[in-house]
Amino acid sequence: MAKILEKERLSEAVWRFRLHAPRIARKRKAGQFVILRPLEDSERIPLTVAGADPEAGWIDIIFQVMGKTTMQLRDLPEGASVRDLAGPLGKPTHIERFGRALCVGGGVGVAPLYPIISALFAAGNHVTTIIGARTEELIILEDDIKASCNRLLIATDDGSHGTKGFVSDVFKGLTEAGEKFDVAFVIGPVIMMKVTTALTVAAGIKTYASLNPIMIDGTGMCGGCRVTVNGQTKFACVDGPEFDASQIAWDETVTRLNAYKSFEARVRENYHECKIANA
Ligand SMILES: Cc1cc2nc3c(=O)[nH]c(=O)nc-3n(C[C@H](O)[C@H](O)[C@H](O)COP(=O)(O)OP(=O)(O)OC[C@H]3O[C@@H](n4cnc5c(N)ncnc54)[C@H](O)[C@@H]3O)c2cc1C
Ligand code: FES
Repeated sequence: MAKILEKERLSEAVWRFRLHAPRIARKRKAGQFVILRPLEDSERIPLTVAGADPEAGWIDIIFQVMGKTTMQLRDLPEGASVRDLAGPLGKPTHIERFGRALCVGGGVGVAPLYPIISALFAAGNHVTTIIGARTEELIILEDDIKASCNRLLIATDDGSHGTKGFVSDVFKGLTEAGEKFDVAFVIGPVIMMKVTTALTVAAGIKTYASLNPIMIDGTGMCGGCRVTVNGQTKFACVDGPEFDASQIAWDETVTRLNAYKSFEARVRENYHECKIANA
């Protein structure tokens, strides 16, 4: 059980929960995640540790409401507890003084990117961050990120904030202006990662993407999170979630992520209807 100490709405469908989790707060590093179940009968879902205070004993998770399990989590009140919480899981991001680092985040991918930005900045890198969303109201963590990097650039699909277009368009603008980077970290929807990392890799930048396949046990036993990297089968929960983007089989990753879409839509609809019926 992990008590919800604070609950804050960051945008239309994105929430930040502060959870009492002293042992995870002490051990976690940038890039790692937890697996939790909001209720006894919930599915287990992975969420990145977006922040932590080892002295106070809390961790932050930031999540987008996507389907039944994230709806169940959202509906828990402050002071209640999530049923169980395991972590920290996954390999931490490799942080060193690379030189000029580029961080690119799309949608709720900005949340898992934030601890990586902070760690790169703290290690003495010059950090440029590009974040993007459909529209201004969906941009999250703008002030936190601005305070944790050298330069923040924003893109919105509708042009309501920052550049009109995608994060990949902003990156193209930087390369056209002759900017060079030593390393790039990209996190967001899988299509955004596929498109953006194709550009950064083509520009000769060593690029890491954080994959988000379906995870169940988070221990390398179930095979749910199987991905192909450099022609080899890897389990994102124990070998990742970050991988060299130039080696990821992107089309297979997209296909596997879409495998349960119709089932997920049905479950989401039923949960919504149940809530209305019980209101
Ligand atoms: C390592 C990792 C870190 C993640 N960190 C974050 C985060 O910080 N914030 C955030 O908002 N989201 C994060 N996700 C995605 C998050 O786990 C899914 O959005 C969540 O599981 C959706 O569950 P649902 O039942 O609400 O939605 P559903 O309707 O069941 O599914 C919606 C979509 O969520 C994904 N999903 C569903 N179940 C799982 C599962 N068991 N494991 C992985 N993905 C699943 C699939 O892409 C699916 O199409 C992360 C995923 C991984 C693998
Ligand atoms: S979640 Fe089961 S092997 Fe990775």
